[in-house]
Amino acid sequence: MTVTGPEYLGSAAADALRTKPRTAGEPREAEAVAGRAVGDRDLWQNRVYVDVDAFARNVRAIRAYVGRHRELLAVVKDDAYGHGAAELSRVAVAEGVDILGVVNVDEARALRVAGITSPILVLGATAPAGAAEIPRWGLATIACHLEFAEALEAGAREARQRVPVFVKVDTGMGRLGIAPRDVARFCDRLRDLPHLSLQGLLTHLPDADDKGFSREQVAVFEKLINEVRRRGYAIPRNHVANSAAILDLPEAYFNLVRAGIILYGIYPSDAVKRSIALEAVMCCRTPVIFSKEVRPGDTISYQRTYEVKEKSTVVTTPMGYRHGYPRLLSNRAEGLWRGRRVPVAGLVCMDMTMFDLGPGARARLGEEVTVLGRDGDEEITADELASHAETVSYEMITSLGMRSRRYYLKGGLLYLEPRERRALSGQYY
Ligand SMILES: Cc1ncc(COP(=O)(O)O)c(C=O)c1O
Repeated sequence: MTVTGPEYLGSAAADALRTKPRTAGEPREAEAVAGRAVGDRDLWQNRVYVDVDAFARNVRAIRAYVGRHRELLAVVKDDAYGHGAAELSRVAVAEGVDILGVVNVDEARALRVAGITSPILVLGATAPAGAAEIPRWGLATIACHLEFAEALEAGAREARQRVPVFVKVDTGMGRLGIAPRDVARFCDRLRDLPHLSLQGLLTHLPDADDKGFSREQVAVFEKLINEVRRRGYAIPRNHVANSAAILDLPEAYFNLVRAGIILYGIYPSDAVKRSIALEAVMCCRTPVIFSKEVRPGDTISYQRTYEVKEKSTVVTTPMGYRHGYPRLLSNRAEGLWRGRRVPVAGLVCMDMTMFDLGPGARARLGEEVTVLGRDGDEEITADELASHAETVSYEMITSLGMRSRRYYLKGGLLYLEPRERRALSGQYY
């Protein structure tokens, strides 16, 4: 499949989409212009706007904070948390990221096909039957199962390559990894597999808010590194730190750190220090596809949970739970319309949601309601949505980002993610 370059849409559209402050009630001519520039065919689609420049600034800030003497891995799994891995990986590498982290070989292959040649580490488990894909695409991988390691050895031998391998240790996450007591023995087994190049150990922190527990994990990990080194393995590259640890647990840095959610401008929790200034990268907007005047006593959506109290204007948008806008947001969340907050009216449907714009509001068809991100002085954060939806910001951005058309804003230009690339990543909208 050929992957075409980005579809550039001109700087007028990009200017129009910049969220410049405007006075309340001022018509959103800018967005209307953008709608035309982006193409009428898309006017009724939900859109995710990815601010590539903000992403680049986040990478730079993280790079500067952790220092240039250690490696920085950018976690771009799950299509870069819904932002588009092919588009953002290129930027990450240009801004000084050393390695990209994906969850499986499919994601890594999509990056290679998109022309990304930098080191990629597969952070998830690969089926032994698929192990040969790792040398085929020039990847590094974690290992925590002997059957997989042996299959990988066979694939690497056939490809005449040495595959960089990190041994995954479970120090408390309870997900993937070898128990600490078995690590040394596992490394000994790897020594018998000459096409695997043991790089180091890694582990994951399940609860960065619990500093005491995280520190205990780090202590266990440090002991393991020493033990494995005493047995004669160099293991130069060991890693623990995720976003929370990067922000607030420097003793977890070792020689490599894995930055995830902070790349996308979101703090992993309220409990960690905000030691790096971050900018939100994703904005999600939905067009008005219908507008009507409602009167007291009218009800909105399934099960009639929203009853109109005073004469008002209710608009319908094509954003539903199938687009990653959870049903739990019904009658709880707000959107932004012309820079002011407007409540979700009634139950979120499978592919539509209504917003109450208030008395006398006159919305134009195609005008956008912001469900995530900034409009003027107001902002709906991923954390705000997550708290209404009883989930975490991670889930909000991946769900919204995966299920809408994505537009990238970069250096004053707005461009649409090529459809072929979206298909390659296996994600549709
Ligand atoms: C192994 C591993 N390391 C690092 C990360 C990044 O986590 P965060 O987004 O909290 O930085 C993840 C994400 O789930 C992960 O699975």
